[in-house]
Amino acid sequence: MQTPSAKVWDIAYVRQQFPALNDPESGKLAFFENAGGTYVPHQVVEHLNHFMTHTKVQPYGPYRASQQGTQAIEQATVKMAEMVNADEDEVVIGHCTTMNLYLLSMALRKQFAAGDEIIVTEQDHESNISPWLRLQEFGVKVRFWPIDPHSGKLALDDLDTLLGERTRLVCMTHSSNIVGDVNDVKAVADKVHAVGGWLLVDGVSYAPHHAIDVKALGVDVYVLSLYKLFGPHLGLMYVRRDLHGQLHNQSLEQLPKLYAAYTNPGAPNNLRIALNPGLVNHEEVACLLGLVAYFDDLHQHHGFADEPSFQRRVSRVMAIAGEHETALARQWQIWLKTQPALSQLGGDNTVLKQRSPTWALQCGSTSPRTLAIALGEREIAVQSGSFYAWRCLEKLGVDPHSGVLRVSLAHFNSSEELMRLCITLDGLLESAGGKHV
Ligand SMILES: Cc1ncc(COP(=O)(O)O)c(C=O)c1O
Repeated sequence: MQTPSAKVWDIAYVRQQFPALNDPESGKLAFFENAGGTYVPHQVVEHLNHFMTHTKVQPYGPYRASQQGTQAIEQATVKMAEMVNADEDEVVIGHCTTMNLYLLSMALRKQFAAGDEIIVTEQDHESNISPWLRLQEFGVKVRFWPIDPHSGKLALDDLDTLLGERTRLVCMTHSSNIVGDVNDVKAVADKVHAVGGWLLVDGVSYAPHHAIDVKALGVDVYVLSLYKLFGPHLGLMYVRRDLHGQLHNQSLEQLPKLYAAYTNPGAPNNLRIALNPGLVNHEEVACLLGLVAYFDDLHQHHGFADEPSFQRRVSRVMAIAGEHETALARQWQIWLKTQPALSQLGGDNTVLKQRSPTWALQCGSTSPRTLAIALGEREIAVQSGSFYAWRCLEKLGVDPHSGVLRVSLAHFNSSEELMRLCITLDGLLESAGGKHV
């Protein structure tokens, strides 16, 4: 049994941090599309505003406004690395996860010989499948780690049958954006490393609910989307330092050499150049300092003892946020059992360590799209569709074109708004005549 933390998530305080929840107009919306992208706290907005007002000039220049902007960009990058327990030169802040993975696949391409094998899973979002399938053009063999057609789970035994001496890379999700399953990444890392391969993990669905420690997980590459983690529309990619020498530069040919020669403190390092052609939106990177301030405010507000590591502070905050999310998940699962027309993919586990609070529903005779639109008209935000996890849906017998209705939580959701969703959904199913189908 889990020992509950002595500290209790102060949901009223947390909600105060989000301008969208407190604005008279946008505050009417009960927001359950968090797996698509979360709201941002005021700290992020303020840092963005500050950058745009005072330092919106080309960074890395010799004058004050530029130096201050540079400092914000560099500090934010250092903190993001610290957040996942990586060293600063092991992290790239890119446009998004899809772009980061595409660039990585291009950067690694020359490392693979014809007949080398890459394993991808049927559980993943397509952004962690398509870039690897493209390498088939160069003779790489891509093998699929299948999911169970009923539970949607990945079994380690199945991986054992795929791993071999030609395995170079295994690409998997930490937590599925459809079935929510949390996979045992450490166990997979041990198996993959035993055959001399690398492990790449998509943490996009997992990271909004847990602190990340890439070293403890033993991964070689880890990606997450900062805009689903209360930040701006950016993606973070960790690449273990030992792999850097294997990456082919994706940026301007001369740049890595030029930057290697730089002695200026604050100049971007090679990885950040090689995997980030043209760099990314400066103001968005700088406002990640607001994300740091947000987690630090929550850490302080909940009375945790001082802690020098940002990763540890996030970890404390996520632990009590997780208890709140677990309570909401229980509330949801109890209600769901009263709804014969709704069937959830991936089971009813409420233990956050095993299942993310992202729920994909089949809705009997009512179309997911119709329900999503009707909920939107009633100021409740959910989404319908395939969520780019076509293979996962197909294997579970769901037509990706009609897709599922997806409800997903963030730690700022309240029990009251979840109840509002349940009551409204109940009424909609009743009036559509689809409640008991
Ligand atoms: C599990 C998962 N992986 C990857 C992605 C792609 O992320 P991005 O939008 O940052 O490219 C998403 C986006 O929804 C996702 O849910």
